[in-house]
Amino acid sequence: MMDTALLNSARALDAKHVVHPHTNLRTQPDKKPLMIMKGDGVFVVDDEGNRYLEAAAGLWCASLGFGNARLAKVAQEMMTEIGYYHIFRGASNTPTAQLSAQLSSIAPEGFNHVLLQCSGSEANDTAIKLVWYYWNAKGQPQRRKLISRDQSYHGTSTITSCLTGKPRFHQGYGLPFDGFLYTAMPYYYRLAKPGETEEEYSSRLAAELEEMIIAEGPETIAAFWAEPVLGSGGAIVPPKGYYEKIQAVLAKYDILLVADEVICGFGRTGNMWGSETYGMKPDMITCAKALSAAMQPISAVLIGDRVYEGMKEQSDRFGSFTHGYTYAGHPVAAAVALETLKIYEEMDVVGHVKSLEPQFLAGFEALKDHPLVGDAGGVGLIGALEIVADKETKAMHDPSLNVMTIFENAAMERGLITRIIVNRVALSPPQIITAAEVEDMFARLRAALDDTLKAIAG
Ligand SMILES: Cc1ncc(COP(=O)(O)O)c(C=O)c1O
Repeated sequence: MMDTALLNSARALDAKHVVHPHTNLRTQPDKKPLMIMKGDGVFVVDDEGNRYLEAAAGLWCASLGFGNARLAKVAQEMMTEIGYYHIFRGASNTPTAQLSAQLSSIAPEGFNHVLLQCSGSEANDTAIKLVWYYWNAKGQPQRRKLISRDQSYHGTSTITSCLTGKPRFHQGYGLPFDGFLYTAMPYYYRLAKPGETEEEYSSRLAAELEEMIIAEGPETIAAFWAEPVLGSGGAIVPPKGYYEKIQAVLAKYDILLVADEVICGFGRTGNMWGSETYGMKPDMITCAKALSAAMQPISAVLIGDRVYEGMKEQSDRFGSFTHGYTYAGHPVAAAVALETLKIYEEMDVVGHVKSLEPQFLAGFEALKDHPLVGDAGGVGLIGALEIVADKETKAMHDPSLNVMTIFENAAMERGLITRIIVNRVALSPPQIITAAEVEDMFARLRAALDDTLKAIAG
């Protein structure tokens, strides 16, 4: 039973005191917050008892749905046993040691060291420092510049905001700092030239990257950062040959590759890592979100042997590795993450996603006949459709029509939560979703599109 007085008081307190990311802080207090009260598998329930199929897995993260008694038990037991200890100056705890070993064993070959952190932003922030630490160790301190892609998302700490290739994350903060470069995003549907094949488009992007590197001075470039599938950039899968061609350029100039697997890790793309799906050979991998099924704030930097050698040299030179957070290697978070990895093994998360992928992709394919849908597609259990005003020209709707808001509300009315990115509707449901629920998700999505079409026509 919901306690109405408590709820009303919470709403009032929210309006008065809570700073909500990604809202207009002037108008938000007048809006009714979406109070999510309960999770039930892939569904969440709000304060009015409305049930939503949460097809965005929250923020691409709730891989096991929105509650898990087994993880709760592990957290409670660990909190009772040893509720906190750090890993500074050689201290350790069992779950941290086991989790690091387990991550090394499921990582691609050559990732034998793990640095635990608390969020995706922290993992990328730390990986940036490690890139610089490495090049300093190797006597190339001038390698400072970092290349990411337009519309990429790597976090919102001061430095990762710079790496994030979305100008609106820089506006108002005096960012980015110098030394952050943005190359084109691989967005075949909208950015390929007429008649260009995927391979040709990939070759052009690789050539553009090489031009940028040469113009900047290859000896000044430290690393290239990439999400295997651009998540917040629109759930955009790379065109054929993209990573192969990009990596050839990076190898030519000895530029490190960091794979941001914060969304793509742990089965999302139909392999344990998005890097495997696309033949990426990164020097470091950052991961978070599904690492603990989003039930504890924990992330990790998986460090390739090449980078680790440099770190060892550097820490030896200065006497210690001077980097760490109070909560890195937190026993409770590590225990929950370790148990999450056990659950993935038992449920065969990769096999499960792979088995649903054909149905998931067919769902998108079928929607291409809808009058509002331009592009549609994905990989594994991540994908998106693009809402357009004209299928031929790919023109978007006039922003004043608020089509995406109309769609989002229609989807909510149909009991479906999606992720809207400009004119794209992304789906990345919890990895525990069943075939019946995938069918249900696409039925709700089509109904919401129909409702939107009716609303804008009439
Ligand atoms: C690809 C990617 N990297 C990094 C981050 C930042 O993670 P966090 O919000 O945990 O700091 C996100 C968050 O959505 C992400 O999608």
